[in-house]
Amino acid sequence: MVYIAPSILSARFDKLGAEIVEVEAAGADWIHVDVMDGHFVPNLTFGPIVMDAIAPIAKKPLDVHLMIENPENYIPAFAKAGAHVITVHAEACVHLHRVLHMIKEHGVKAGVAINPGTPVSAIEQVLEDVDLVLVMTVNPGFGGQAFIPTTVRKIAEIRKLQQERGIAHLHIEVDGGITSETAPIVVEAGADVLVAGSAVFGRSDRAEAIREIRSSVAV
Ligand code: DX5
Ligand code: ZN
Repeated sequence: MVYIAPSILSARFDKLGAEIVEVEAAGADWIHVDVMDGHFVPNLTFGPIVMDAIAPIAKKPLDVHLMIENPENYIPAFAKAGAHVITVHAEACVHLHRVLHMIKEHGVKAGVAINPGTPVSAIEQVLEDVDLVLVMTVNPGFGGQAFIPTTVRKIAEIRKLQQERGIAHLHIEVDGGITSETAPIVVEAGADVLVAGSAVFGRSDRAEAIREIRSSVAV
């Protein structure tokens, strides 16, 4: 099964609740929540207060992508607000293994993300500790950027490691520049969670947008 996770970064913030209701009705599987701190990435979005406001509205799992420094300081608040998955960046964690286990101790699935310039070796040692690996297919910070094709080989590399080590379940999520053109490329390589911001929220018919991505990967 391939999951489609619209990113609310590209939603209209003046009617965020209605936007979430609409994409869920349009067929979204997860709701992707992009948290930025203006330090780890050159943009600011929102924190646990907004997450608290949307959590009762969203019926689908909330997939929280923390593009922040010192993510350990915010894990309890996002867990309390009802995150299904919390993903932290390998580049932002000195004690990555500790942070991933902290997420799990809060009863939330743990994800680790790598930027386009970060090799798989940066997360090799924690593959058994995570539920999800997020392979960034753009440099994080903004919606609507162009897909970086050289990131695709990392997806296949992670699936190979998973197989070699006999890891039963591991989601591989991709984020950035995902459209009905790029989705088949990443799914072929082994991705099973597709984040799509502008490709869904940038279209007036969100159901059609999600349908197009889903049919491009034929699952
Ligand atoms: C990028 C964010 C993405 C972003 C993707 O920093 O992590 O989730 O919303 O947007 P699109 O799909 O427009 O590239
Ligand atoms: Zn994201």
